[in-house]
Amino acid sequence: MKILAFAASSSTKSINKALIIYTGQIFEKKYENVEVEVIDINDYEMPLFSTDREDELGHPQQAHDFIKKIKNSDGLIISFAEHNGSYTAAYKNLFDWASRIEVKVFQNKPSLFLSTSTGQGGASSVLKAAENSAPFFGADLKATLSIPSFEDNFDRTNNQLTNAELKKKLNDALFKLCM
Ligand SMILES: Cc1cc2nc3c(=O)[nH]c(=O)nc-3n(C[C@H](O)[C@H](O)[C@H](O)COP(=O)(O)O)c2cc1C
Repeated sequence: MKILAFAASSSTKSINKALIIYTGQIFEKKYENVEVEVIDINDYEMPLFSTDREDELGHPQQAHDFIKKIKNSDGLIISFAEHNGSYTAAYKNLFDWASRIEVKVFQNKPSLFLSTSTGQGGASSVLKAAENSAPFFGADLKATLSIPSFEDNFDRTNNQLTNAELKKKLNDALFKLCM
């Protein structure tokens, strides 16, 4: 099972990326047949989407590459960063471009949606938005999990979740993704 994983954040210090890397490692450790590829959405940076730019440029190669990456995977793990209650501009831009090539951006792949933030809300607003729109964009959503107060629940030095209850919830979510 080839899993494509990424943080919906362009921050080089992204806590969602730290969560994605950790999740990928525990997933591979737990299931022999799982291989996780973590990509960085900075590698898919494009001009700010508008229909004018689309008329002018067509669909940039990065948008095609992103759609192809998803196509070639057997499942997805995405961790959403929240900016002002919603998606980061970087992710939304990538998503908007990708959706012009294939509106079912997630291409019916089994998916796990995560989110985390430094606050108690755990980026649950953006996670809810992603969950609500998942069927429209072709995500076969198996589970979601929001991790609140990242710095309190994740050990940055050893790169692991320290909260046992959240650890269990993450393992349960990975099990659902496998099924
Ligand atoms: C412009 C901006 C808006 C933010 N808005 C929210 C928000 O609505 N909810 C939240 O929980 N955290 C918010 N935060 C804090 C982020 O959760 C925090 O920066 C987190 O590190 C973002 O995830 P990332 O590190 O993966 O990019 C905001 C941060 C920025 C810079």
